[in-house]
Amino acid sequence: TAKRSRKKGAKLQSGSSCVSKSSEIEEQRAYEVWVSEMMLQQTRVATVIEYYRRWMQRWPTLHHLAQASLEEVNTVWAGLGYYRRARFLLEGAKQIVQKGSGFPRSLKELQKVPGIGEYTSGAIASICFQQPVPVVDGNVVRVMSRLRAITENPKLPSTVRVYWALAEELVDAKRPGDLNQSIMELGATVCKPTSPACSSCPVSAHCKALSLQSKAMKVVTDYP
Ligand code: ADE
Repeated sequence: TAKRSRKKGAKLQSGSSCVSKSSEIEEQRAYEVWVSEMMLQQTRVATVIEYYRRWMQRWPTLHHLAQASLEEVNTVWAGLGYYRRARFLLEGAKQIVQKGSGFPRSLKELQKVPGIGEYTSGAIASICFQQPVPVVDGNVVRVMSRLRAITENPKLPSTVRVYWALAEELVDAKRPGDLNQSIMELGATVCKPTSPACSSCPVSAHCKALSLQSKAMKVVTDYP
């Protein structure tokens, strides 16, 4: 019976920790998405992959990273450029661990972490925590400028505001992260700056620039 009740206890324990398991998994994912989004900010996916793999091998969790030194993170980052991104990750990890309340979830809390702005907070909140918030990067701007045939200079802050507002309208309530990532991916692989692959685009039927043969098609190349 002792064995039996111990077994029962163990089962209960693992059962109850199941509730916190899902948030542990979400927090681990938030760390991974944070690192990858920081790396992807100025660097192509193909270049990032190997750096990301090495980073995760060295610091598999937020808590591992919080113990690192600036020299160490700079060494692993070497070659990616814009080293302040590495410093932000280290400072951010230390800050989150020190606060002791887990990985921040809301846009407001996320943006208190060094180096996390509107873009990265939106990416983490939507991809890891299923929050219906938009994400706008260069790829999203290009996809939306073509979909809606918007010809304003996308480099102007006033135009960028318009894209955030548009992206807010498009947000998917059920799978916000998947929609945000598919728009970014569409921009990176199909709706490319020059010679977009419109014939293999899954949303070409909705594309205003394509149907109008509009100059919005090359709006990005017009404003280098
Ligand atoms: N580029 C940067 N972050 C991305 C993401 N989460 N999905 C697709 N492309 C990206």
